[in-house]
Formats: sequence, C-alpha cells, structure tokens
Amino acid sequence: MRSVTLEQLFEHPITQKYVKRAGLAHAISASYHAFRLAKQKGVNPDLAVKAAFLHDMGHYTWYRNGEWDFELYKENDIHAIKGAERAHKLLIRLGEDRKIAKEIALAVLLHTDSYLPEGQLYRSQLQQIVALADEMDEEPSGNHHYRKISDSKARKKIAQLDEMIDQALVSEAYEQTSEVQ
Ligand SMILES: [Fe+2]
Repeated sequence: MRSVTLEQLFEHPITQKYVKRAGLAHAISASYHAFRLAKQKGVNPDLAVKAAFLHDMGHYTWYRNGEWDFELYKENDIHAIKGAERAHKLLIRLGEDRKIAKEIALAVLLHTDSYLPEGQLYRSQLQQIVALADEMDEEPSGNHHYRKISDSKARKKIAQLDEMIDQALVSEAYEQTSEVQ
C-alpha cells in the first residue's frame, strides 16, 4: 500500500550516514511522538512519521578544534533547508510518490524557524506535528543529538512503527496533504 516503508528508509546508506550523524535515538523518539500526534489530529501518520524520522538529516558537524562550536552553528546553520533537500532526494530515489515526497520535504524545511529571519511562520497541521514531535524529544544543550541506540533496537522500533502505520492506514482514510492553519 505504501510505496516506501520506514524500514527501507532506515536501511538506505544516506539515512545511515545523515540520520545517524544527527542522532538516531532522537529521530526514532520524534517519530513515535509524530505518530501519536498525527493519530490525534487525523493527519496521515505515514507522512508525519517519515518527516519526523528525517527532520534533522541536514545537520552539519560544526566542530572547531575537535569540539562542537555552538556559536558557529548558530550563525551558519541551515540544517532544515539541507535536510529538506536530502529527504526529498532520498524519498524520490526509493520510489516515493512525488506529492508525498514534497509534503515531507516541506515539513522538514519548516520544523524549525531557527534559520529564518524574524517573523511569523504559518504551518500546516502536518508541519506543526513534526515541529512539536521534535520539541517533545529535545533536551537542554542539544543533548538529544547524542543519545545512543543500537542498530538492532532501532530496527525493532522501526519495524514496530511500520506496523502501526500500516494498521492506521487500514482503519482510517487520510488526506495526503493538509491545509495551512
Ligand atoms: Fe530535532
């Protein structure tokens, strides 16, 4: 029914490199939050979970003299832009529906406003869910990026999410896109 499963996404070398760089444990926790929020709001959980899983894949490592430099990061970070592009490319490569790939890429792009000039950001329900799912798993000083999870545990959690999404899609008809609120 779905063109791309979470498991397929997880196994791809691009995910292995970039989702792991930003923190696999955080990506998985945010995905679980996104699933729950999507079910609550009647938003397609397949899109919400995929966007949450990939939301930080645009991170670059801002190291100076072997240490993370928060100032460098704050000044120069565009991880949401980079992540949106990477997520889109990866999804298309795996054969994702183009409309879905675009929705997911947009939710990744807008999951944070940290790179945007001051101003109001209007988010669709899907975009709100991904931003909130990210926040719910955040820890002080970016510690959520460094939490560890083993590959075998990650695989189990991802397979479980795939099942939860499949079940949700069987029992409910979801729109592919959602209006901006
Ligand atoms: Fe995040």
